[in-house]
Amino acid sequence: MPPKHSENSDKISYYDFSREVLLGQNLEDKFLSVSIDWTDYKPFELPKLPGRQGKINFSSDRMKFPKAQNLDKNDKKAMALHSFANHELLAIEMMAAALLLYPHQTEEDLRFKRGILSALKDEQKHLSLYIGRLNELGYGFGDFPLNDFFWRQMEKLKTPAQYTAMMSLTFEAANLDFAQYYATIFREFGDHTTASILDTVLEDEITHVAFGAHWMKKWRQDKSLWEYYMSSLPWPLTPARSRGIGFDPSLHEKAMNDSDFIESLKNYDDDFKITKRSL
Ligand SMILES: [Fe+2]
Ligand SMILES: [Fe+2]
Repeated sequence: MPPKHSENSDKISYYDFSREVLLGQNLEDKFLSVSIDWTDYKPFELPKLPGRQGKINFSSDRMKFPKAQNLDKNDKKAMALHSFANHELLAIEMMAAALLLYPHQTEEDLRFKRGILSALKDEQKHLSLYIGRLNELGYGFGDFPLNDFFWRQMEKLKTPAQYTAMMSLTFEAANLDFAQYYATIFREFGDHTTASILDTVLEDEITHVAFGAHWMKKWRQDKSLWEYYMSSLPWPLTPARSRGIGFDPSLHEKAMNDSDFIESLKNYDDDFKITKRSL
């Protein structure tokens, strides 16, 4: 779907832009693309759900993600692409929410928000690529159930550090592995078109994780990046969620540029505490 441009070419306020992306009901609202005027911060109350209507509404039905060995079949391929697209749309909406929620009083706050806006634009591109591929396969976005799992974490993200810990260093970090893993699968099946979309997503997600790492390093004070990350990640998420299928530490290192952090991520064991506690 081509980006939606506002009728007049003037800038619109960050507030109106983010509100339309977050609360707009239709897919074209999510693709809004305009120049932003960084007007003064205006408080905003997080809605229960992003605006969604019709085909893009949330569903309580669950879709089972297809097995890798079946991804040469068109219907399974469409299901996988649909699931990736769902994550992109949620990322767009959560980034719009982040622009609305966190105050910007200083030039540094604004730099942080400009980074979020730039990631949001990449997510729009990713969503568009996935939907385009779905269409080529004879499917449409909304043909399978759309869940709100990521969105439900949003209300826990009271500070930029919590947002960054969850969005960049956990969900987007895991996406590095997933994108690489599925690009390889599709390439093995000879689907170079889908594989190259995943390559593009991977390249962009490395910059999104790097963005998060950059700010977490700025804010951590005397803590190590790992300690700061652990203290910022809202319960019940754990660092295990930032490792995707085919966890590749070198990819994470490329994005994070912090080898101690990567060592801790490699060694992190979810069961460890539980096992310890039961002793
Ligand atoms: Fe993305
Ligand atoms: Fe991203």
